[in-house]
Order: sequence, then C-alpha cells, then structure tokens
Amino acid sequence: MVPPNSVTVRVPAKVNLQLAVGPARPDGFHELATVFQAVNLCDEVVARSHEGGGIALTISGEGAEHLPVDEGNLAYRAAVLLADSLGVAPDVELHLHKAIPVAGGMAGGSADAAGTLLACDTLWRGGTSREDLLALAAELGSDVPFALHGGTAIGTGRGEQLTSVLSRGTFSWVFALADGGLSTPAVYGECDRLREGRAVAEPHVSDQLLQALAAGDPIRLGKALHNDLQSSALSLRPALEQLLHTGDDLGALGGIVSGSGPTCAFLARDDDQALDIAVALTSTGLCRSVRRAQGPVPGARVTG
Ligand code: C5P
Repeated sequence: MVPPNSVTVRVPAKVNLQLAVGPARPDGFHELATVFQAVNLCDEVVARSHEGGGIALTISGEGAEHLPVDEGNLAYRAAVLLADSLGVAPDVELHLHKAIPVAGGMAGGSADAAGTLLACDTLWRGGTSREDLLALAAELGSDVPFALHGGTAIGTGRGEQLTSVLSRGTFSWVFALADGGLSTPAVYGECDRLREGRAVAEPHVSDQLLQALAAGDPIRLGKALHNDLQSSALSLRPALEQLLHTGDDLGALGGIVSGSGPTCAFLARDDDQALDIAVALTSTGLCRSVRRAQGPVPGARVTG
C-alpha cells in the first residue's frame, strides 16, 4: 500500500463534569478524581509528508496568534516524542486548525498533542498500539490521554489513568469563552494557597454524578457538576462569578468553570434551550464569545 502523504485528524475538547483535587504529590502534581466528557468542539490536525524537512508547524483559527510554533507547542513535542519512539526522522508539515479556546480549561493544547500523535503515527505508518499511544500521551500531559480516549471517562492519578463511564444519551452544552486565558499551574497554585493549613481529603468521584450519567438525566447531572478548582479560578478572575450567576438566571441546569478556566460551561435541558442560553449570554457582554456543543463524542479520529 502507498503511504498517505496527508492525514487529517479531528480531536475534541473536554469538560470536567467533576474535578476533585486531592493533596499535592511530591512530584508537584495533584492527585485527582475527575470525570471527563469529550464535546464536539474540535480542533483539526493535518499532517503532511515533509521528507528531510524536519517539523514545520503552522496554526490557524481560534487564538492561533498566541501559540508558539516550536518546541514550546505541545503538538510539536508530540511529533518529536512519537518519532523517537518509532526511530524515524521527525519530518512532518503539521497544521493545526483551532476551534478550542487557548488556555481556556478545555484541554485545547492536549487535544492538539493527541491529534498529532494519531496523525503522525498514521502518516509514518508507525502502527503504534492504542495502549502505547496512550502511554506516550501521558508523557506529554495529564489531559492528553483523554483526548485520544474521548467519550466519558473517570481520570485518576494526575488525570491520565482512564476508566470509561457508562453514559446514556447526549448532553447539550453552552461554553462561554473569556477574554485571555488562565495558566493551569497558577490555578492549582491558587488552590494550594486557599487550602493552606487545612487537611485535604483523598479525592472521590461522586455516585450521584455517575448515576445521572447512567440514567442520561441532565437535571440530575446539572446538580452534580462540581469543580474543586472553581474557587481558585474565581479568586484569580472574579468577573467569572457574575457569568456563572447569569447562566443560572437563564435557567441552565448547572454551570461550572471548565477545568482550570476561564471558560464557563453551562448544561442545558436540550439543544433548543442551549440556543436560548447562548443567545442570551452573547447579549450580556460578560464573555468574549459563546459556543454550543454536545457530548459525549469520540476521541481523536482520522477523518481524511
Ligand atoms: O500535565 P499538565 O502538563 O497538563 O499539567 C500542567 C500543570 O498543571 C502541572 O505542571 C501542574 O502545575 C498542574 N497539575 C497539577 N495536578 C494535576 C494536573 C496538573 O498540579 N493532576
């Protein structure tokens, strides 16, 4: 078979339905119990053959101007890591087309890294097993394995150890994108600061949340949404509080800061209500822009 000279991968954003943050570990990471859901707000990764040319990275779309195109970009490091593991030259023209907000708490950088692993493995005909791709993903970052996995999953450890969760039906989301991003280490650091002097319990996934997912019940899911990083994100970005209150006033079933923020996620009853909430949030001027999305959706997939 002739190797492809171009591979396109679509890779979803995530929202943490629950993010329970345990004590800081000796390696600086925090022990987590989280429930991820992949939503159809997707970045696209295109990998083209570039024989003898090394890695050439270009980026377009949402927030592209803020992103590095060298080793500072996790997608670039993903291509290097995979090439090393396969023992091939890291020759690839990579293009990222972004829809996932940058530094928004929706794992956009992790999605690009996961998409790059899959696109390059396909382009270079690496034949890397699913298990090995997940292990490489975990080396790149805590959220990268989930971007390959997709669906709905519990994440433990630092978030990289995944177990699929039974989830019925499709949930309708509205994401309010904020101006500027929040640094994930800064938000975890603020969490440590706010908890200073207090004993921190081991994190656990909530049974109510798992039951709501199994039943496909958005009302119960809305009540069970919880993010331990929310108070830290609000402490660093107090204006998010008003945004969350507004989502509540508009009848969202639940509203939380997504991951380390500053994107806020609102769960709607159905797509019609999501449209109403999105239109109303847009007119408040409290956020930079608004996106609707549904979840769960599959993880990174070759589409062309
Ligand atoms: O794994 P990742 O590179 O995405 O993590 C970014 C930062 O977020 C880490 O350097 C750490 O400060 C923080 N983090 C953490 N505990 C986790 C995941 C991330 O403290 N479980």
